[in-house]
Amino acid sequence: MKKILVLGSTGQIGMALKKDLTKWCEATFLNRNDLDFADIESLSAKLKDFKPDFIINSAAYTDVDQAEEFQENAFQVNSFAVEKLSKLANSIGAVLVHFSTDYVFDGKKNTPYTETETPNPLSIYGKSKLEGEQFVEKNCSKFLILRTCGVISKNNDNFVSKIKKLSKTKKELSVINDQITAVNFASYISEATSKILKKIEDNTENENRWGIYHMSGGESGSWFDFAKYAQKINALSYPDSSFSQIKILPISSIEFNQKAKRPNYSFLTSDKLKNDFDISLPNWEKSISEVIG
Ligand SMILES: NC(=O)c1ccc[n+]([C@@H]2O[C@H](COP(=O)([O-])OP(=O)(O)OC[C@H]3O[C@@H](n4cnc5c(N)ncnc54)[C@H](OP(=O)(O)O)[C@@H]3O)[C@@H](O)[C@H]2O)c1
Repeated sequence: MKKILVLGSTGQIGMALKKDLTKWCEATFLNRNDLDFADIESLSAKLKDFKPDFIINSAAYTDVDQAEEFQENAFQVNSFAVEKLSKLANSIGAVLVHFSTDYVFDGKKNTPYTETETPNPLSIYGKSKLEGEQFVEKNCSKFLILRTCGVISKNNDNFVSKIKKLSKTKKELSVINDQITAVNFASYISEATSKILKKIEDNTENENRWGIYHMSGGESGSWFDFAKYAQKINALSYPDSSFSQIKILPISSIEFNQKAKRPNYSFLTSDKLKNDFDISLPNWEKSISEVIG
């Protein structure tokens, strides 16, 4: 039975992975208390004990706006710790599966980004994540970098939970309509990741599919589209709730003025995932329905 170590077990993807991985492998999940990325050296002893075949890193500094202010923390978690993690994983022959983001791109295009396109992040978060990717590519012979976008889930802090919460105290909600991306249910990402690992579990020495993969549903939309659709689905079950009643208005990125600059277009094509592993994720409408339903 394959052994998998998951880092970031309290996050949206980390929590979803618990459900999928425990069905078919021996999985150990570490949270921040077990392993703080500020002290990643302590992972060495844990790796020697557990000897994982795969390490999945779903831990990250994910607050895009706060990262502008707390740059050191963002780089520590998303970059420097990943440098050490990638060296450790390689030294024990483990496959490193590392999550990354559409925010590595600058959004100057208006057609879907492929894995071969050159990143040019606009924010500290994007820069720190790109550096992490580069360490994984440099240090690991067996790795998967899974770039996804707009992760949402039922419980954690995410776009859908945030707008629902805001609707309790506001009468109108302005949502950005000129940043085009997608949202993806954490459980879909987890299922896809688990399927990939199953597909390569017995063949890691001869495997040649290592590299970067984009992992998202096949349709794009704006945050305004996502908010309006979430409201529509919510109104079917809870027509009188504050979220069903609130007025959702479009606003431009310039007017909204977020602390961190985001790409205007960062939709990822996941054709490579489909071609190499025959895996595709449902579109953003399904993701929102899962989270709202
Ligand atoms: N969220 C998104 O919209 C989004 C979009 C694109 C890509 N991604 C990528 O997808 C991956 C997972 O995202 P997610 O949404 O599941 O993230 P999340 O819900 O924000 O969870 C992040 C995880 O990282 C852990 N963490 C943060 N700082 C840590 C530290 N110093 N030491 C140890 N653990 C630490 C958190 O622990 P605590 O619970 O203790 O804080 C939590 O378990 C990340 O690589 C992220 O960059 C996310």
